[in-house]
Amino acid sequence: MHSEPVTASLSGPASIDISTFLPDNRRPRDTGFIVDVKVNMQMEKKALDWANLGFQYQRTDSRYSANWSQGSWNEGKLVGSEMIAVHEGAPSLHYAQQCFEGMKAQAAPDGRVLLFRPDLNCERMSQAAARLLMPAVPTELFMHGVEEAVRANYAWIPPYGSGASLYIRPMLIGLGENLGLKPAKEFEFRVFVSPVGPYYKQAGLSVISLAVSDVDRAAPKGTGSYKVGANYAGGLLATKLAQEIGANEALYLDARESRYIDEAGSANILISTEDGVLLTPKSDAILPSITRRSIMTLAAEELGMSTEERPIDLRAEFATFQEAGACGTAAVLSPIGKIWFDGQWNEVGDAGSEVGPTMQKVYDLLVGIQKGELDDERGWCHEVRI
Ligand code: PLP
Ligand code: COI
Repeated sequence: MHSEPVTASLSGPASIDISTFLPDNRRPRDTGFIVDVKVNMQMEKKALDWANLGFQYQRTDSRYSANWSQGSWNEGKLVGSEMIAVHEGAPSLHYAQQCFEGMKAQAAPDGRVLLFRPDLNCERMSQAAARLLMPAVPTELFMHGVEEAVRANYAWIPPYGSGASLYIRPMLIGLGENLGLKPAKEFEFRVFVSPVGPYYKQAGLSVISLAVSDVDRAAPKGTGSYKVGANYAGGLLATKLAQEIGANEALYLDARESRYIDEAGSANILISTEDGVLLTPKSDAILPSITRRSIMTLAAEELGMSTEERPIDLRAEFATFQEAGACGTAAVLSPIGKIWFDGQWNEVGDAGSEVGPTMQKVYDLLVGIQKGELDDERGWCHEVRI
């Protein structure tokens, strides 16, 4: 661990040319990238070894909590304790009446703190809440909770250039006493944050492997397209079995025929084919990944690629795969080097353990926008005013 805080200790505005810190392919498109950086002496960063963080829970100073009962949300506030006292009969504990979100805050080169498309996380949480008969978290409350949690933990936001980010975990849980199978009468909306590094151990864009799972994640008309804890509990075994044969993660095929690609345990799938198409599975049983939707838009509109969302038959089409990737908030975009199915490892395309050019291009564009290095023409980044 570092013993020194990473914070700059300037006391007033300073002018620095950030572009000198960027690799050529990450230089911003607009001109005049000389910015004023105001560094507040009060906001010293924690003394963490930012560049070597893993994807683990790190307790931070505050979390946001609001409670719902008798039809309305209370005001909500920041709280210090990471512990929640839950009634032993709570439906979140017995019947998995809970949902959650995953987002990241990133420090931009000019000092801004950016969220990526938080409106879509809010929308997805409302959909999950409706599916599990929980009250929706109103947009203003969701955004307020997220922003408050980020602001209060400014010191934990990894500095620009460290490769780490602040993971944000909004959650909605059914509380209160209940025994029969019926919805909770009380709910808590909570947002905690934790600085994290890469999900799949290695930093940056590194190649992973997946193993097709023999157990299913989600039934055709089940809850697979909602970010609810119940989907993940069943997946723990699949992940363990995948890791036992040396894969990073499980890959699920559709539960009806075990034929079409659904998604990985924590990420959606992208495939680039021999004929230059960027493919992604169409399935009602997968999470509508915000990362995947963004990449498909960028690939079509900025990189001029043909894109297609359709069922992808793993065995029948595998030979046409040039590159593959797993994408999500935690996973970012991790190229897939090989996939275990039918009792053997199958290499994707001919890249081996190299990162292919398509995944590299798409990664650079996505991450450049998320980190505020590239123009955000679509207004996807939301600044949290510190
Ligand atoms: N699929 C699953 C099962 C996930 O847990 C995640 C992570 O959130 C994703 C896909 C990616 O979704 P997003 O890009 O919105 O983070
Ligand atoms: C995310 O990417 O935000 C997720 O929720 C995946 C989770 C399994 C860490």
